[in-house]
Amino acid sequence: MKILSVVGARPQFVKLAAIADAASRREDVEHVIVHTGQHYDAAMSDVFFADLRIPAPDVNLAVGSGTHGRQTGAMLSAMDEVLEEHRPDWTLVYGDTNSTLAGTLSAVKMHLKVAHLEAGLRSFNRRMPEEHNRVMTDHAADLLLAPTEVARGHLASEGLAERTLVTGDVMTDVCLRVAASVEGTPLRLPEGIDPASDFAVATIHRADNTDDPERLAAIVRGLQELELPLALFAHPRLVAKAKDAGIALAGGAVHLGEPLAYPDLVNAVQRSRAVVTDSGGLQKEAYLLGAPCTTVRTETEWVETLEGGWNELAADPATIAASVSRPRPAGERPPYYGDGRASERSVDALRERA
Ligand code: UD1
Repeated sequence: MKILSVVGARPQFVKLAAIADAASRREDVEHVIVHTGQHYDAAMSDVFFADLRIPAPDVNLAVGSGTHGRQTGAMLSAMDEVLEEHRPDWTLVYGDTNSTLAGTLSAVKMHLKVAHLEAGLRSFNRRMPEEHNRVMTDHAADLLLAPTEVARGHLASEGLAERTLVTGDVMTDVCLRVAASVEGTPLRLPEGIDPASDFAVATIHRADNTDDPERLAAIVRGLQELELPLALFAHPRLVAKAKDAGIALAGGAVHLGEPLAYPDLVNAVQRSRAVVTDSGGLQKEAYLLGAPCTTVRTETEWVETLEGGWNELAADPATIAASVSRPRPAGERPPYYGDGRASERSVDALRERA
């Protein structure tokens, strides 16, 4: 049985790590990895393969950055040949990026079966490119591997119940495994932050937050005003947009760092007092690792994290500081995201339906 995974962006490499590992433990599974090249900087791509021990991609489409149309189109035109050569039993796509949509479209057009991992997430915010990507992917795919019951509910309400299977969340598999392995190892924080004292961790990269200079300035102000020292691990999009807008990211509470390797990020989050982010994955990692999170968005797909106050939305950047300084939630963190075996369930679901 042959699975062909299509990945391209940072969070997809984390999910791929879980699937590649589960696939390697099934003798009858051949796993082909196609990297679209959406993310290409070493810190955004190579380090994930190295740290998470993911086999090197079999194919790299090297599409690079571009407008949504150009980037997605370049992937589409490169995929036909790859799928023709490999003729997989399943094309497996991950999450909600342009690489997800391109992998899906190219496979369904060749009448190859597509499975969508992390199906059924919804923000109901049609300004987000990710929302279009995930809705279109869910409706085109043959098998929908949903991380949670909430995701299953969304798919059912769109008429997709019969194609849906709840597996748990594969990022949780990786997060729990890595968290145990980095416990007690040194932290990699930007200069000026004392790892022995309280600190916060932040990432900001969504187009809605970075591309409007006024909003970006307000967010940076909100971060700089925090009482706690803050490690801001800056995505290249954030760095580029801040530079264009003449906004200095460092200053006040903010200490600037490069994007972290996954184990270093998990280590920093699990030792932090608070997390501020607009990343979906990081909201969930904060929840799993017990760091109170402030999400700089109007909504979240991972609604379970809001329960018990572990995650709070700060749509208005002026409210970030108050949210970060809220008392540590006393509530429990129920295991909404599974038991760490979602990737095995996902690979077995594909084997049973090959
Ligand atoms: C993409 C995904 C988003 C995901 C995020 C994770 C889409 C529509 N968005 O957003 O869902 O949360 O990845 O990081 O697919 N750049 C570099 N080096 C790189 C990659 C990007 O410098 O290796 C810069 C380029 O200026 C590029 C910009 O970052 O134009 C944005 O990259 P892109 O892949 O278009 O989207 P992300 O913002 O990373």
